[in-house]
Amino acid sequence: MNTPSAQPHANGPIGIVAALHQEISELLTLLSDAQRVRIGNRDFWTGAFEGQPVVVVLSRVGKVAAATTAAVLITHFGVRAVVFAGVAGALAPAVAVGDVVVSSELLQHDVDASPLFPRWEIPLMGVARFAADAALAAALRQSACAALADPQALLGPAVMQAFGIAAPQVHSGLIISGDRFVCTSAESAVLRDALPDALAVEMEGAAVAQVCHEWGVPFAAIRTISDRADDTASVDFAQFIAQVDSRYSVAILRNWLSAMHAP
Ligand code: ADE
Repeated sequence: MNTPSAQPHANGPIGIVAALHQEISELLTLLSDAQRVRIGNRDFWTGAFEGQPVVVVLSRVGKVAAATTAAVLITHFGVRAVVFAGVAGALAPAVAVGDVVVSSELLQHDVDASPLFPRWEIPLMGVARFAADAALAAALRQSACAALADPQALLGPAVMQAFGIAAPQVHSGLIISGDRFVCTSAESAVLRDALPDALAVEMEGAAVAQVCHEWGVPFAAIRTISDRADDTASVDFAQFIAQVDSRYSVAILRNWLSAMHAP
């Protein structure tokens, strides 16, 4: 017998997920009517941001943590869409620290059940690349472009100088995920050779994309580039998240959610 559960609902809240606490701490201070719901050792914060009902949650790092969190957002909270916000390492040469990548599709680079199934394909699903929801990704891209239009106002000159950010760009394309922090030039070169169209690498997005695909819930990821996925990848990571990434996320989500009021 099937167990009854909440299904994705057209009027449900929007799920906003991040992997690290500093990535959502500012957002949490901006929620109105915030209520904490503790499920599966995670705090899900329900409330409103820019007048839109949201559930904000810290998934913690990695694909299992992120997939578990997404399943609860869908089955318990009936979210109508899921957005993952966080940082990523750049793979494509044209993607720089301080840029934003919006997912058009997502792939788990550490899945390999060959020769039983093609490399990267999720066994018995027949999918390797999960498409982000096109309308959601386009709206987030537009919101990101608006947020980054005046980086001096958003970050201030001292932060831009500290992280070598000059004229941040917004990109759309393939984001790849795996249970590894990529922090050597050798490893990022292997990924670049194997998946030449990958723009960025992180540790959660494609797992959430898989869960959302299975439940038919729109999904997209926005990732601020914190490093080049090379030997310097861990430098000033916490500072970057607090001073750049969390500001970007709040500004992008604010632009996106406030635009929903427009006729
Ligand atoms: N998130 C941010 N930078 C990353 C990297 N270099 N590898 C994996 N995940 C990341």
